[in-house]
This record gives sequence, C-alpha cells and structure tokens, in this order.
Amino acid sequence: MTPVPHPPAPQHCPSPRELDDLELLVSGALTPISGFNEPGSPITLSLPVDVHAAASEAGALELVDPEGLPLARVTMAAGSWTVSPLTDAQYGPFRRYYLSPTDVRDRYAGRTFVPVAGPLSQTQVEWLRTLGPAVLVVLVGHGTPDLSPVALIRATLAAVEDVDAAVVAVPLASHDDVLVDHELGAQVVANYAGPDAVRGLTEDDGELSPTVAAIVSTDLPDPADQGLVVFFTGLSGSGKSTLARALMDKVLEQGRRSLTSLDGDVVRRNLSAGLSFSKADRETNIRRIGWVAAEISRHGGLAVCSPIAPFDETRQQVRQMVDEAGGAFFLIHVATPLEECERRDRKGLYAKARAGEIPEFTGISSPYEEPQDADVRVDTTGRTIDDALDDVILALRDAGYLDLTDPVVEVRAQRASNPPEMDEPIKVLFVCTANICRSPYMELTARTLAGHDSGVEFASAGTHGFRDHAMDAAMATTLGAREISSEGFLSRRLTQELIDDADLVLTAETSHRTFILDDHPRAFRKVFTLGQFAEAVGNLDLTGRELLAAVAERRGTAEQRHDVGDPYGRGREAAEACGQHIESLLRVVVPALAASERITPWKT
Ligand code: ADX
Repeated sequence: MTPVPHPPAPQHCPSPRELDDLELLVSGALTPISGFNEPGSPITLSLPVDVHAAASEAGALELVDPEGLPLARVTMAAGSWTVSPLTDAQYGPFRRYYLSPTDVRDRYAGRTFVPVAGPLSQTQVEWLRTLGPAVLVVLVGHGTPDLSPVALIRATLAAVEDVDAAVVAVPLASHDDVLVDHELGAQVVANYAGPDAVRGLTEDDGELSPTVAAIVSTDLPDPADQGLVVFFTGLSGSGKSTLARALMDKVLEQGRRSLTSLDGDVVRRNLSAGLSFSKADRETNIRRIGWVAAEISRHGGLAVCSPIAPFDETRQQVRQMVDEAGGAFFLIHVATPLEECERRDRKGLYAKARAGEIPEFTGISSPYEEPQDADVRVDTTGRTIDDALDDVILALRDAGYLDLTDPVVEVRAQRASNPPEMDEPIKVLFVCTANICRSPYMELTARTLAGHDSGVEFASAGTHGFRDHAMDAAMATTLGAREISSEGFLSRRLTQELIDDADLVLTAETSHRTFILDDHPRAFRKVFTLGQFAEAVGNLDLTGRELLAAVAERRGTAEQRHDVGDPYGRGREAAEACGQHIESLLRVVVPALAASERITPWKT
C-alpha cells in the first residue's frame, strides 16, 4: 500500500514575532505523531477517510513523493505511531540547506537561532550582525507568507551574505489554525535550537537592499508581467469561443504576449480525445486544461481557455493550480441565458438534446453551476461581438493584467460611464402588438398609479397594427371600471426614435422583446418583458435610475411564463383577467421606478 497523504491546506505561518511571544514547548527529538485526523493536535497527519481506515487496519502507512518514491514509513507500535525515514529527498532547489535537527545540532551548536518567514530588511540585517554567530531558520512551505519558498531562501542568502549567519531551510506544514500553527512553529524551531537561545526578529517595514528587492519583485511580478489564464465558462452556444477568439485577435494584433488557445471543442479533439460528458470525464477534461494553462502561466504566457466547465469545484481546482504556478486566474462568466443559447442552437445540439439523442447535455440534462467568483459576467444576448468584448477588455485592464484598450474602447467606456442625470425623468415605453389593448392599458394604469410629479413618464406603441386607433372596447371598459379614462388615446407604431428616446422598454410578451432586439440589438440593456422586469425588481432593493442600471447588468431571463397574454377579441372576462395581471405587475414596477412617497393611493 502506498497511500499519498492529503496535500497540506493553505496555511498561516507564524511570523518570527509571533514565535518569539510563545513559550517554546518542546526541545529535543521530534514529538511522535499523536494520531491521524486529529484536528487541534499540532502533530497529526490528515488522511483521506479510506486511507485512514486502511492504515489503521494495517498498522502501517507509507508516505511517497508525487512521483511515488517512498519517503517514510509510519508504524503503530505500543499504541503510538512512529515515523521512520526511508529516503532523504534527493533533489529540489536549495536541497543542501534542508538539514535535519540532528545535523543542525552537529554543525551549529552554540549559535543563536532566529526564525525567518519573510525577506530581511536592511535594519534587521544590521541587528543580526550584533547577535554574533547565528542560525537563520527559514520557515518555508505552504505557510510562507507572500514569497515562494525558493525565493525566500534566495532572498535570505542574499541578505546575509556578509553576516556570520548560517541558513537552514525548514518546511513547515500549517493546520489552518493560528494557535496550533504557533505551537507547531515553536516546537520545530526549538527542535533545531536545542539548548541554544532562540531570538525573534523585530517586525519592521524598513527598506530591503536592492538585491533582495530585485529577488522579491521577480518572485512577485506586477500583474502586467505575470502569467495569465483567461478562463471563459458558460453554456454551449453562449458565445465563449467567439469572445475568446475575438480577444485573442486583439492580443495578436498588439503582439506583446505569447498566446495559447485552449478552446473546449478543440481540446476535446486533441488533449481530451475519447473523454465522454459524464461528470467524472468533464472534471478530467477541465483539470487537464487547468494543468496545461497553469504551466503556460508559470512561464509568463497567456492561456485563453473556453470550455463549458460546468462545475464550481473543478473551476476552483484550476484557479488553485494557476495560483500555485504563480499565474493570475481571470474568470469570465459568459452568462447568456439558456433560452438564448437554445434559440441560437448553431450546432443543432440543443434540438438533439431535447429529443433525447444527446445524454447529459449541459443546461438540459446535466447541470451548469453558475460561478459566484467571476471577475466579469457577460451576457451576449442581442449584443455585437465587439460590444460584449469591450466588457472583457475593460475588466482585464482594470484588474491590471492586460491592457488591450484602444481609443475606440475608451470612448465607448466613457459614454457608458456618463449616464443621464439622475434627476431627469425616466421614460418608460410599453409595447404590445397593435397598441390598442395591453400597452395602452399599461401606459394609462402606470400613469395613474404613479400620480403627478412621479419623475417617470409613460408612453406606449405597437410592433404592428394601425395608427390612430382608439383603445379596444373591452379593455377600455375594464380600465373605466377603475376610474381611468382612455378618452383621447390613439394607437401608434413603434419607431427607432421611440426606442432611442426611452430609458426602459417593457413589452407584453417575449415575442415583442425578440422583435425589438432583432432590429435593435444594442437596446438589450433596456428592453424587457413587463413580467421579467417585475421579477428583477422584486429581487433588488433599489429604485429609480439605480434600479435601471442594476437590472441592465443582471437582468433575469425573459421566459414565456412572464408573458401578459393577448385578450383581443376574447370578451370581457379575458379583458378583466388581463387587466388584473397587468395591475399586479405594475404595482411592483411603478413604485420602484418612481420615488415611492410620490405614489398616489391605488383606486380599487
Ligand atoms: S466540458 O463540460 O467538459 O467543459 P467542453 O467545453 O469540453 O465541455 O465541450 C463542450 C462542447 O462539446 C460543446 O460546445 C458541444 O459542442 C459539445 N458537446 C457534445 N456533447 C455535449 C454534452 N453532452 N454537453 C455539453 N456539450 C456537449
């Protein structure tokens, strides 16, 4: 049996100051492992449950390195576990500085021991000079704050080049628990120091020497010089590949970065050929992409990935792989709703999935977990590629990773950040088919509900039908029963000017919305069905123009269940039902658009 121990969790490493404050608990030999999976115990080994059970049964456990080389054997004898080393690690940068406590005692007994967990400032180096012969115990491993272990050793060696101080590297596992970590750190340093004095560095934010500063900045590059993984996730047909390609074209045009594309479909023909769409195979697929992307970022390159990547946990693993490789991970959620992806169905896959011909199809018969940690969210519905790409480009620039902005983008961004004055009236346009039933009912009801001086102006128009018609008799009667007159109302056709002039266009049905967006895709941020907008309002605690801005960013999907059906020619009862439906939606929408204290009481 060669179980591999659990990878250590991200950790806190005690700072030298914290160590100094602690009583040094144990000296001499390493305390034996007190047990497995014992949270709170400083010396414990966290094992996967199945490995734990097998180890307990066998009374032994072998620890191996990532390549399978046996490192140590842990055996149970007389009720306690003992660790016996099998091999010394043979390689690894600065391996010669990784000494056992016994070797350190042999070589450096009598010196003063100083734990080091960060780059030494010039002031700290001067203080070290006053100490006499010292041993710097460099605490490396996952717990090293900020700097990578190798850079911390390099920086320490450079800082004390002409000081009488030996450097010893000590890997220290953290347990994600500050107190336990302090105790463990103190024990470990004490094991190395034996009876000799342990002194803590005083914390200071003094200057680093130029050599140390250069080592630090190479290890922690500016975001613009860092390797970068731009990871698009979203449903099939959401526009991931299109946006990724458009982004890559910009990168290539600029010619400043080396670039690798890891597109979902392309990876599946090569790196992941033969994998299915089961959960396990999808996870393997994404981890492969993540592994390659992380390696690219390790070399300072740029990887643009565009798989569906439907599972949060796998995306988190990719983030961690990139992080550990020293790269930056930038997540873009291409949040085009399923409804729109299915409408596009460029590859005809949704139709097949609906017909049951493709099993486990994302969004239909396999889940898509929406990311909560995306750096930017882009819904491509009704937008041009360039327009949607702007969101990505600006977010990448603002994060400091990649600046692909050109003057055109800047101008567009400026326009977007200069919205109309907050106190200008909000213009709402209601739209239905002929502008004789639903949309005039909405317009006149909303106006009554809002009252005078509401700061909102209401109008209506029809996608089809005749101009200058009076309101439908049944709907006019329904309205009249609520003491709202339709006298003088005349129908009109929807025009480009009406759409341009409106801050918000609310349609009766999804089909009206689609009709408008087909011709005016750029209006996608302000055209919704009335039901869709009411639902979005219900989820937000905002009013007026702030509400409009928020809904424009995070609008829900327009679904047919939101539609206000057509009562035309269906008699009094249908008109009454339609009127009630409209009222119930407007009671949500109108108070949120207007300043609520200006709303007049509703007449029932
Ligand atoms: S992932 O889930 O493993 O991330 P990936 O991005 O590689 O998916 O592949 C998705 C592409 O494979 C889709 O764009 C689509 O063309 C195709 N495909 C074939 N079968 C499926 C399926 N069952 N679910 C989703 N996409 C599928």
